[in-house]
Amino acid sequence: MLEIKDLVVSYGAIEAVRGVTLTPAQGAITAIVGANGAGKSSLLRAISGLAPIRGGQILLDGKDITHVPASRRAELGLAHAMEGRRIFRQMTVEENLQLAWRFGRRRTTWGDALDRVFRTFPILNEKRATLAGLLSGGQQQMLIVSAATISNPSTLLLDEPSLGLAPIIVQEIYAFFTERCREDGTTVLLAEQMASLALKVSTHGYVLRQGLVVREGPSKELLETGLVAALSSAYL
Ligand SMILES: Nc1ncnc2c1ncn2[C@@H]1O[C@H](COP(=O)(O)OP(=O)(O)O)[C@@H](O)[C@H]1O
Ligand SMILES: [Mg+2]
Repeated sequence: MLEIKDLVVSYGAIEAVRGVTLTPAQGAITAIVGANGAGKSSLLRAISGLAPIRGGQILLDGKDITHVPASRRAELGLAHAMEGRRIFRQMTVEENLQLAWRFGRRRTTWGDALDRVFRTFPILNEKRATLAGLLSGGQQQMLIVSAATISNPSTLLLDEPSLGLAPIIVQEIYAFFTERCREDGTTVLLAEQMASLALKVSTHGYVLRQGLVVREGPSKELLETGLVAALSSAYL
């Protein structure tokens, strides 16, 4: 179980996260929605150990990991699919997957892990020897979510998985992690600007604004409020 308590993240004078407390429901999808600059990515990066934490606490299964290095957090079961399709573009599809597998919590053999990816996304099998930088945007996102889940993380952080993708690919990516969450009991923390999209697949949601949680509740309730409509229309 992941618990975030009064977390503060700042870059010099810029306070990106200003005291956020949240506990994602275990084995379910929790949405973090908010406009560009609200602090969603900073929050996820702090959880995975990639942003400067100035205050508060992060607990994973009761263990304080606030100051544990990112590589160790990955071994403990945290995985992070970063915003902006961060992959190793000069490495092949298979090399990217292998690297992700080696750094994470390995619950199966490499062969079984790879088989599962290729069964889910056969196109990645066809392109296994292709440089990741040469894949289409949709294929890159498939690679990223596959890399993030290849070592069976207990907690998966997804940052804007829909960004810049055609609707049909967005559907495929969303179907992938909702199914994976159900099958494996993975806890998912999903950051999205597209609030309605994220709230439809999640059970619980948090609305961030300027580094603060301004609303939280069951996703269904947040969807029904005008607040989310207002948030969404701001991006159109
Ligand atoms: N590496 C960084 N250095 C300085 N400021 C940053 C950095 N990353 C994010 N910020 C600032 O922190 C705030 C929150 O950004 P971010 O966490 O990326 O929000 P979101 O993901 O919701 O768009 C913004 O004001 C942004 O400009
Ligand atoms: Mg972001």
